Amino acid sequence: MKISAPRETAAAERRVALTPDAARILVRADLEVVVESGAGLMAGFPDSAYEKVGARLGTLDEVLASDVVAVVHGDPAWFERIGEERLLVGLLRPLDRPEYTRALVEHRVTAFAMELMPRITRAQSMDALSSQANLAGYRAVLVGAAGMQKVYPMMVTAAGTISPAKVLVLGAGVAGLQAIATARRLGAIVEAYDVRPAVKEQVESLGARFVELDLETEGAEDAGGYAKAQSDEFLQRQREQLGKRVAAADLVITTALVPGRPAPLLVEESAVRAMKPGSWVVDLAAETGGNCALTRPDEIVDVDGVTVAGPTNLPSEAAHDSSNMYAKNVVTFLQHLIDDDGGIELDMEDEITSGALLTHRGAVWNERVKGLLEGGS
Ligand code: NAI
Repeated sequence: MKISAPRETAAAERRVALTPDAARILVRADLEVVVESGAGLMAGFPDSAYEKVGARLGTLDEVLASDVVAVVHGDPAWFERIGEERLLVGLLRPLDRPEYTRALVEHRVTAFAMELMPRITRAQSMDALSSQANLAGYRAVLVGAAGMQKVYPMMVTAAGTISPAKVLVLGAGVAGLQAIATARRLGAIVEAYDVRPAVKEQVESLGARFVELDLETEGAEDAGGYAKAQSDEFLQRQREQLGKRVAAADLVITTALVPGRPAPLLVEESAVRAMKPGSWVVDLAAETGGNCALTRPDEIVDVDGVTVAGPTNLPSEAAHDSSNMYAKNVVTFLQHLIDDDGGIELDMEDEITSGALLTHRGAVWNERVKGLLEGGS
C-alpha cells in the first residue's frame, strides 16, 4: 500500500502531513511512502531527510494517485484526482468550510477529517486539534511578547524595578492552558477564565488565578468534554463582568470555542478601548469570527494604541514541531485503520474510524456535518 503527502498549496502554510520520522514508521511497517518533492522544505525537512528513511520523492500526480493521501488542509482542486478509489486524511475543515465537504461528496472521496476525531482516551494520540492548539497557545504568548511594549517578568535592576506583565487568558482549553503555562514561564502574572468550572484546578496548578464570575455555569460541558453554547444573555453578562479584567491586562489571549459555532464574543470594543496604550489582544478564534469585536483575521488592528491581532495559523509558524506532532497524529490514525495484512477494511462499528469519517461513497457520513450542511451554513 502506498501512502503519500503532497506539498501544501495554501499561502502561509508551512506544515507537511508526513515528516521523516512519520515516514520511517510507515516504511518499517512495509508500506510504501511517497512525498512530493519539496513538501517538507518549509518545515525544515529537506527531500534528503525523507530519502534517508526509505521514502521516495514523487510528483503531485503520483502523490494523488496513492492509496492513502495525507494532507494538512490539502486543496479542493485535488479532490477530483483523488476520486473514489483512494482515502484522504487531513484537517478538512468539516465544521467551518462547507465547500470542502461539498467537493469531497461531489468527487465521491472517502475522507477522514482529523477534526472529527472523538475526544476519547483511546484516540488521544490521534487528536490533531489538540496537538496544533498546544502550539498555537504557545505562539500566542510570543506574538504578544514581540509586540507588547511591556516585558513579561519582574526585573529588579539598578535602573529601577519593572513590574511583571498581567496576562488574561479567556478560554482555558488546550490552547488556553498552554498559553497560561508559557506566560507563567516567562514571568507574567496570569489569570484565566473559562465557562467550564472543571478547569479551575488546572488553571491554578499552572500558577495562574482563576477568575470567578457571578454567572451560573453548571452544565457548561458536553459529554465530549467540549463547552456547550451559552445564551446571548449569559454572554452579555459575561462581557460586562470581564470588562474590568480586560482593562487591567497588558495582554489578553482569547481562545474560547464551541465546536461548530461562531466564536462567542467575549471582549467588546469598549473593553479594548479601556485597555492601556501599548497593550495587546491576541485572538486565536479569529478564523471563526473572533472572541473580540475588533478582530480581523490575519490582520493587526490598532485601536488608539491598543493592538488587536487575529493570527489564524499559528501552528504553521512553528512548522517543524507542529508538523512532527500532526504527522504523529496521522500515522497513529493510519496504524489504527490498517489491518494485520497491511490493507484497509473500514470498520464502521469502530468509534474512531466512524467518528473521523467525513464523506464516503458520495455522501456525508458524519451526522453533525450533514446537519450543518443541510442547515445551509
Ligand atoms: P478547546 O475546546 O480545548 O478550548 C476552548 C475553550 O473555550 C474551552 O475550555 C471552553 O470551555 C472555552 N469556552 C467556550 N465558551 C466560552 C465562553 N463563553 N467563555 C469562556 N470560555 C469559553 O479548544 P482549543 O483546541 O484550545 O482551541 C481554542 C481556539 O483556538 C479555537 O477557536 C481554535 O479554533 C483556535 N485555534 C487557533 C489557531 C490559530 O492559529 N489561530 C490554531 C489552533 C487552534
